[in-house]
Amino acid sequence: MPIRTIIEPFKIKTVEPIRWTTRAEREELLRQAHYNLFLLSSEDVLIDLLTDSGTAAMSTRQWAAMMQGDESYAGSRSFERFRRAVQAIFGYRHVIPAHQGRAAERILFSVMCKKGDVVPNNTHFDTTRANVEHAGAEAADLVIAEGRDPASTHPFKGNLDVAALEQLIARVGRERVPLVMLTITNNSGGGQPVSIENARAVRAVCQRHGIPLYFDACRFAENAYFIKLREPGYQNKTPKEIAQEMFALGDGCTMSAKKDGLANIGGFLCTNDDALAQQEKDLLILTEGYPTYGGLAGRDLEAIAVGLEEALEEDYLRYRIVSTAYLGQHISDQGVPIVQPPGGHAIYIDARRFLPHVPPAQFPGVALAAELYLEGGIRSVEIGTLMFGANAAMDLVRLAIPRRVYTQSHIDYVVEIILEVWKRREQIRGLKLTYQAPFLRHFTARLEPL
Ligand code: F0G
Repeated sequence: MPIRTIIEPFKIKTVEPIRWTTRAEREELLRQAHYNLFLLSSEDVLIDLLTDSGTAAMSTRQWAAMMQGDESYAGSRSFERFRRAVQAIFGYRHVIPAHQGRAAERILFSVMCKKGDVVPNNTHFDTTRANVEHAGAEAADLVIAEGRDPASTHPFKGNLDVAALEQLIARVGRERVPLVMLTITNNSGGGQPVSIENARAVRAVCQRHGIPLYFDACRFAENAYFIKLREPGYQNKTPKEIAQEMFALGDGCTMSAKKDGLANIGGFLCTNDDALAQQEKDLLILTEGYPTYGGLAGRDLEAIAVGLEEALEEDYLRYRIVSTAYLGQHISDQGVPIVQPPGGHAIYIDARRFLPHVPPAQFPGVALAAELYLEGGIRSVEIGTLMFGANAAMDLVRLAIPRRVYTQSHIDYVVEIILEVWKRREQIRGLKLTYQAPFLRHFTARLEPL
């Protein structure tokens, strides 16, 4: 068989124009946005790689399902369909809808954590860390050492360091660890997968100490496909079977359906614990909504039910993983330092190595992201010192790829722009903060060039 191009496994039925700006306009827009790309208007962005969250293109099947949304307040048919779709993959007893991942996180941590607790995770995402801390607990990141080394090509760089987990439990005591979390894939660490073997080892430690294991499941389908490609014994299993095997190791999960749910909004919380589920539903009613809609419209629940199934289709996952790697390959072949190997949903440029003359305190990731916007109207996001403060192990610029949205020629353009900026990297200067909020400061921070 000749090697053929892996093409987008869809054709386009609806299009949305994108808008060019001039460099002079972008200079002014960037100044007005205080060098923080979150503060730009999306109309002024040509290719938006800020996030893969809530930005997917929905399929004809999803749009058709939305028309069947049952908008009843209680006992909606759409909730039943949603619950069945979630349980078929995740397998947990209770499925609690929420408007997005962080709502599920807030409910989970407010019910399970108290002041002085410690929550281990391979790496907490920003909202996850903030919600753990908001509940008075400490968020401990225990990813394996390879996961902190951008150049390491370990196949499962999202794995949790099992020895470090044992040590942490021994140090703080089992009663201060209300749950352990595994983030699949590890977004803040480069979109890197966690192996079934690692999840099983984490499970064994949790079981020994009687600690529940939860998944942050946002990108579970991409994680399952990496397992199929890389973990011995999984080549002949379907992504769905792999996902089922993974979730069977846990006691529950939080999920943002804005990622591998292929939906524009939504999320959920699952648990096998009846007593916890009751407390979670009570809290849900207080702020999110009745447990058969959780802050979502019936049509959203329908879109998620279909999206979860489509995200596990092999044609889709092959295209998804290969097209993300395509971007990584084409820039790293020219010397641009990226987190290797390419992640599932995004490519992460190592800004500390791209701009070695800009120290972390001068936000090399923010400086590089600003430059990519100036050069070509591309919006990316810093995951580094601005996002995590002095906790940041790396300064990365994430180019997150919305699902089913951009074609190969869009990505070829992105490659060209990155290589232009790479050529004149020595002229790029760092930035200083002029305003910051008390938490999650990266969303609203203001900066100016040094
Ligand atoms: N967990 C992980 C690993 C995430 O990546 C995100 C969101 C969340 C939880 C929270 O979900 O946004 O639905 O409330 N990540 C987005 C991103 C925002 O750009 O990576 P949410």
